[in-house]
Amino acid sequence: MPVDPIEALSDLVRQATNIVVLTGAGISTESGIPDFRSPGGLWSKYRIIDYREFIASEEARHEDWKRRFEMADQIGEVGPNIGHEVLAAWVAEGRCSKIITQNVDGLHQAAGVGDDHVIEIHGTARHAECVDCGLRHEIADCRTMFEATGAAPRCTVCDGIIKSAVVMFGQMMPEDKVALAVEAAHRADLFVAIGSSLVVHPAATLPLHAKRAGAKLAIVNREATELDPFADLLVHDEIGRVLGRFTQ
Ligand code: APR
Ligand code: ZN
Repeated sequence: MPVDPIEALSDLVRQATNIVVLTGAGISTESGIPDFRSPGGLWSKYRIIDYREFIASEEARHEDWKRRFEMADQIGEVGPNIGHEVLAAWVAEGRCSKIITQNVDGLHQAAGVGDDHVIEIHGTARHAECVDCGLRHEIADCRTMFEATGAAPRCTVCDGIIKSAVVMFGQMMPEDKVALAVEAAHRADLFVAIGSSLVVHPAATLPLHAKRAGAKLAIVNREATELDPFADLLVHDEIGRVLGRFTQ
């Protein structure tokens, strides 16, 4: 009798003493935010603007900001879904010590997970920063400037370039956060990768760090991922359906 993979996941969660979770865009699609590499995902609609181009070109900055505001209008108000809520419960129950996320939508925090339990290794889209002086700028103010001038927003203090606080391709990763994520992966006895194609590094090395340190690895994802061959358990299914079983 083939074991139901969700049952098997539930057994692993029950036996674990320190779960670390890595989430990707797939956990937010059921909140209405498109992912990147599914058919129709963001990289099928938009070309990638990397950090070098963003800094070098006013036209690239204008395009980056324009698509951010367009997407915000298309997506509208989003909230956490059952997947975020179940993970927040795992943290609240002390089962899960860290949620390492590649997502920039803040939905884990919106589901009630404290900042000390979330590691946003790709930064956040919830605010912006001046590239030159580091001053924080709110997205709403950036939009006001963008709509008033028709140009990419500039720092109100030093007139420097303002960029969303997301880590762009070609931009240095936040070393402190990556180090925290690697340390968390080493301490886990169960590492669960949820809603990620696991193709972007260094995030995609974290499950292997955990495995090497002796953790069991479970992958929950609609499609096969690059790391499926290393998993102790594969759950190829919809995240809402899988994690929804933990509320019953
Ligand atoms: N249930 C289960 N799996 C899902 C669901 C769902 N509801 N929705 C999407 N998925 C799966 C897709 O099959 C896909 O394999 O989630 C995965 C999302 O993969 P990507 O779109 O590649 O997103 P992610 O892995 O988070 O990308 C990593 O790439 O572009 C950069 O910085 C960006 O953080 C992002 C990084
Ligand atoms: Zn500045």
